[in-house]
Amino acid sequence: MASGMCASIVMLMTLVPAGGHMVSTTDCYRKTRMFIENFLPKMGISVTVIDPADVDGLEAALNKNKVSLFFTESPTNPFLRCVDIERVSKLCHSKGALVCIDGTFATPLNQKALALGADLVLHSATKFIGGHNDVLAGCISGPEKLITEIRTLHHILGGTLNPNAAYLIIRGMKTLHLRVQQQNSTALRMVQVLEAHPRVRRVYYPGLPSHPEHEIAKQQMTGFGGVVSFEVDGDLMTTIKFVDALKIPYIATSFGGCESMVDQPAIMSYWDLSQAERRKYGIEDNLVRFSFGVEDFEDLKADVLQALETI
Ligand SMILES: *Cc1c(COP(=O)(O)O)cnc(C)c1O
Ligand SMILES: *[C@@H]1O[C@H](CO)[C@@H](O)[C@H](O)[C@H]1NC(C)=O
Repeated sequence: MASGMCASIVMLMTLVPAGGHMVSTTDCYRKTRMFIENFLPKMGISVTVIDPADVDGLEAALNKNKVSLFFTESPTNPFLRCVDIERVSKLCHSKGALVCIDGTFATPLNQKALALGADLVLHSATKFIGGHNDVLAGCISGPEKLITEIRTLHHILGGTLNPNAAYLIIRGMKTLHLRVQQQNSTALRMVQVLEAHPRVRRVYYPGLPSHPEHEIAKQQMTGFGGVVSFEVDGDLMTTIKFVDALKIPYIATSFGGCESMVDQPAIMSYWDLSQAERRKYGIEDNLVRFSFGVEDFEDLKADVLQALETI
């Protein structure tokens, strides 16, 4: 499909009937949340939003409503929360609800959501799958019956991938396994450095024992991916200073490519919200999302350390 957003919107519009109910999770790619909160209600669709670990909340929602779909990221953006895919799939299936996992942060190499029991898995191929920060695409996989229904609406809406983009995706995918291995390893080594650093308050990464779903992540992922979020010791301006002092990463909102990228959600993806509004989503002024690329680990480490020294 033409983008990851195209994949998730076509999937949602196909699988949740007008007047229906779905369940999603709190931490989430912002545009997906905007579609679910602002556009699905126009079709009379209501939503229960649960914490990614709140299986009891999911069960209560399933008992209370006729739920068509549970749709969540795992890991989520930007806090890398993980959902126990096997457990929620069993639970949803026992109540007749479908499960779709947005696996963009995991990549299809680090997590196989379909094998864990999900009905559908989608990815923004703009990120790791394309891998070169030069193309937009999305994809969705699952059983033929569901995909046929989704494809029908996809062709009606017209969000097809153009041939040049398709070529870039095929070309990028040839090195997916090499890039992911390096990004897994760099991120896992960097979080140890960050967590031990006095200028870093908190690190969010499923590979860390301090992560709330570390045990689940270990069971369902073979690597934890290249994206790490952390809070530096300071306010909005200190954090801007830290980000500006970094020399290797591009300052941009995407992730998953060969080039490292750094994002300060408070002034980028969430720039239009007040501090109080951002806080409802847990986005603090000092939050940084770092996507580790394929550069040399020692170079990245030295860059992050020198930038932390400036604050
Ligand atoms: C980027 C992203 C999307 C949207 O993908 P695009 O290809 O940019 O449209 C959806 N979900 C997640 C988790 C993402 O990171
Ligand atoms: C990701 O990296 C980890 C740690 O280096 C490794 O154990 C895992 O196999 C990697 N996964 C892939 C798909 O490369």
